[in-house]
Amino acid sequence: MGGVKNYFLRCILCGAEYDPAPMYVCDDCGGLLEVVMDLPSSKFFSRIVDRPWYMWRYRELLPLGSGSRIVSLWEGGTRLFNLSVEDGLSLYIKLEGDNPTGSFKDRGMSLGVSKALEYGFSKVACASTGNTSASMAAYAARAGLEALVFLPRGKVARGKLFQAVAHGARIVEVDGSFDDAFKMVRRHVSESSDLYLLNSINPYRLEGQKTIAYEIYEALSNAPDYVIVPVGNAGNIYAIWKGFFELVEMGVIDDVPRMIGVQASGAAPMVHFFRNGTYRPVEAPETLATAIRIGNPVNRDKAMKAVKFSGGWFSSVSDRDILSAQLDIARRYGLLVEPASAAPYAYFRSNIDLFKGSVVLISTGHGLKDPDILKYWSEYGLI
Ligand SMILES: Cc1ncc(COP(=O)(O)O)c(C=O)c1O
Ligand SMILES: [Zn+2]
Repeated sequence: MGGVKNYFLRCILCGAEYDPAPMYVCDDCGGLLEVVMDLPSSKFFSRIVDRPWYMWRYRELLPLGSGSRIVSLWEGGTRLFNLSVEDGLSLYIKLEGDNPTGSFKDRGMSLGVSKALEYGFSKVACASTGNTSASMAAYAARAGLEALVFLPRGKVARGKLFQAVAHGARIVEVDGSFDDAFKMVRRHVSESSDLYLLNSINPYRLEGQKTIAYEIYEALSNAPDYVIVPVGNAGNIYAIWKGFFELVEMGVIDDVPRMIGVQASGAAPMVHFFRNGTYRPVEAPETLATAIRIGNPVNRDKAMKAVKFSGGWFSSVSDRDILSAQLDIARRYGLLVEPASAAPYAYFRSNIDLFKGSVVLISTGHGLKDPDILKYWSEYGLI
C-alpha cells in the first residue's frame, strides 16, 4: 500500500463516500462509484510539458498510492489525427488502436492492474466482448497475476481471442451474450476473496481512460466542441467526459465538449433510455461490431450523466453504415479501425450539418483485430 491518498470513492446515486477500497458499487444503494480526486492547480499542464508522451505523464491525476508499482506497457500518447478542415469544421480522429494491445482499454488496465497489485490480489477477472480480455491478459502477464476471462462463445473477434490466449489468460466461453458473461464473472468474484474484477464497473478502470481527454486537450490546447464515442457498456464515454470535467474544475478549460454516444442499431439501449427516459435492456443484442454488442450497459447511469450534463445525445447507426464507414476511413485516410470504432464516423458522415467548430471521433480499437469482417464487406456489396 503506498503513500498518502488524495482521492476517495463516491456513489453517483446517493452521494455516500468511501475510503479507497477494492469495491465496485455503493454498500448503501448499489449505485456506481466514481473516484473524486484532489486536483492540482491549472499550472499542472505547464509543469509536465517535458514528460514522456504516455498516460503516466498525468501521474498526479491518477488514483494510485505514491509508493505503488505502476504496471505499464507504455499506454496512451496516441495520435490525434486531423482528417479535414473545411467550412468552419475541423475533424479529428483519436487513434486508440495505437495502444500496446490495440485498444483504449490499455489505459484502464494499466491503472486497474496496478490497483490489483496495490490491494494485494493475485488474480484478475473480466467478462469481455474481446478487447478488455486482450488488454487484461497482457497487463496481468506483465504484473505476474493470473487472468480469468469470460467470453461470449463465437462472438469475439479472432484477433482478440488470439491475444488473450497468447498472454496466458484462462478462458471460459459462455453460451450467451456479453451480458450473460458479465453476470457470471460477477458471481465468481463475489464468491472469491482473491479475484479482482476489472470490468468497467471498477471505478479505477475509467480513471485510466479519462486520460484520453487530457491528451486531446494537450494536442489542441483547448477542448473540442464535440467528442463522438462508440458506446457498449457505456464506461468510456463517461470516462472521457470526466477527464474534461476535471479540466474545467482545474480552471484549464471553460467548458466540457458535447459528448455524443453512438451505438449499433441492434444493440442500442442507451438511445431508447435517452429519448424516453425509461431504461429497458435489449434482450438479444446483435451487431457485426462485436465490441459493442451489449444489451444491458452497466455504466448507463454514468453515461447518461455525462451526456446530459455536456449537452450531448445518443444515437445509433446500422451495421451497413458502420462497415461502409470503416472502409471509407481505410480508403480515404489510410487508417484501419475496427468496426465499432467506425461508428462515430458513420454517425458524423450522415449528420454533418449538426456540427460546427471542432469534432473529435474516438477510434477505440485497431482494425487488424477483426480480419473476418472482410467477408461481410463482401456480403454487403461494399467491395
Ligand atoms: C473497440 C471498442 N469500442 C468501443 C467499446 C465500448 O466501450 P464502453 O464499453 O466503455 O462503452 C469497446 C468495449 O469493449 C470496444 O472494445
Ligand atoms: Zn449509494
